[in-house]
Amino acid sequence: MSSYLDAARPETAPAGTSRFRPAIHFTARDTWLNDPNGLVFYDGLYHLFFQNNPYGNVWGNMSWGHATSRDLLHWTEHPVAIACDETEDIFSGSVVVDHGNTSGFGTADAPALVAIYTSAYKAASEHSGTQAQSLAYSTDAGMTWRKYEGNPVLTRNSANFRDPKVFRYQGDQGACWVMVAVEAQHQKVVFYRSEDLKSWDFLSDFGPANADAGEWECPDLFPLAVDGDPGNIKWVLIVNINPGAVAGGSGGQYFIGHFDGARFLPDAGSLAAPAGLASLDPKAGSAALQQCLWLDWGRDCYASVSFSNAPDDRRIIIGWMNNWDYANELPTAPWRSSMTLAREVRLTAANGSARLIQQPVLADLCAGEELPTAKDQMNADTFELRNSALRLPDAVPGSAQIIEAEILPGSAERFDFRLFGSSDGSEGTILSYNTTSAQLILDRRQSGNTCFHGKFASVESAPVDLENGVLKLLIVVDHCSVEVFVQGGKVVLTDLIFPETENPENWLSAEGGSATILKLAVSTLT
Ligand code: FRU
Repeated sequence: MSSYLDAARPETAPAGTSRFRPAIHFTARDTWLNDPNGLVFYDGLYHLFFQNNPYGNVWGNMSWGHATSRDLLHWTEHPVAIACDETEDIFSGSVVVDHGNTSGFGTADAPALVAIYTSAYKAASEHSGTQAQSLAYSTDAGMTWRKYEGNPVLTRNSANFRDPKVFRYQGDQGACWVMVAVEAQHQKVVFYRSEDLKSWDFLSDFGPANADAGEWECPDLFPLAVDGDPGNIKWVLIVNINPGAVAGGSGGQYFIGHFDGARFLPDAGSLAAPAGLASLDPKAGSAALQQCLWLDWGRDCYASVSFSNAPDDRRIIIGWMNNWDYANELPTAPWRSSMTLAREVRLTAANGSARLIQQPVLADLCAGEELPTAKDQMNADTFELRNSALRLPDAVPGSAQIIEAEILPGSAERFDFRLFGSSDGSEGTILSYNTTSAQLILDRRQSGNTCFHGKFASVESAPVDLENGVLKLLIVVDHCSVEVFVQGGKVVLTDLIFPETENPENWLSAEGGSATILKLAVSTLT
């Protein structure tokens, strides 16, 4: 195998230049990617490390790829940060800024960035067959990395102990590092603590709970103030699951509760079935699964985790925009797979507990000088749509399209956005709201190329209540994806699509009565 690391490095991925290449979502230039890893903000840059096959565009040779951004929309790819070798693959994990130099890898003035990753040991290793947690560190602000010679730093002699997310916990007794990781096949999140990132003590575990019909992977744990109230802090525990998510295959669920520095206690309101999991029907879309809390109700948002050290204590997550059901077969080349948009998460009070709300980061978190600006295509005032259809501005190649709508369904039974539609109506991705069932539905069965895998053609749905009779949608369409943020981000639905029609059209229609469109704005972002 020639060394990719020795070869000339990829330049910035040419956004929007090849068919399906998104404009504002990260893709590697010509290789495979899966989970976001080591998300960290440092010295004005957002770093995105990611599961990467440096040698090809299917899963394998897992290493940490690397990209940076100032605005979370446009990324520059850098050389592989942490490479696999003959003894280990580098599986998912996180990065912290070791401000206090607790590890001794840096200095108090120039803190090291420390990566905590899973060593997936190969046959050539003395640890063969196990997964354990290891360290690598950077003393040049994240650009180059060295593995710690004392690896692994934490083992359980388990074949499925992985995906460490580490954060600084400040408790009454002082501060320490806390790790959340998984025993994937036992549907358990495990919690450890450390003073120096090198020596770890077991604290507790959590699970199984709620959706548990697949492996638990890529957990995260962080506090947020409910509705911004610093006197009401709740903890969010993210647990990704594959398969067994609400839309089928991979997806992310979360729990709301309390973390006391040792143990996570879920609020009763965040448990779908207190007795646990066996009682949950693992069939995609089942009523029981719909009672769990989902980060995303679509097919293509997995392994979401949050940035550490983000500015202004904001909590920003990124997911992998794909699904293990068909991930290796997506019809793109030479790259394969992309990340979701960065999403800022907040908590709002609900049902005696709290619920996450998510907003895509489209400009406001820009750490650079130049703010990306959207170009308006349409901005309509209130009008009625009665059993009729309205043509919306076309997508512009090389740009993402942002559609904002506020709709009062009135007497209409349903209304549909038809995205990337062909003029003869045979092709299109249909996003509908059904007023009778109060469901938002995304149907990609006729979205274009769906035949590359038998599980790709699908219809997703999420329960959505109108608020004061109104449905609010923010839809971001970017060449091969549709991300829908509903009711200010209380419900999110993300699906990939691979449209084939030459001159795609966008339409909005109301059926079975009259709907009032209170707001309809369409813009493009490059
Ligand atoms: C999730 C996952 C992780 C693992 C990584 C390997 O997609 O399976 O659990 O660390 O991918 O690439």
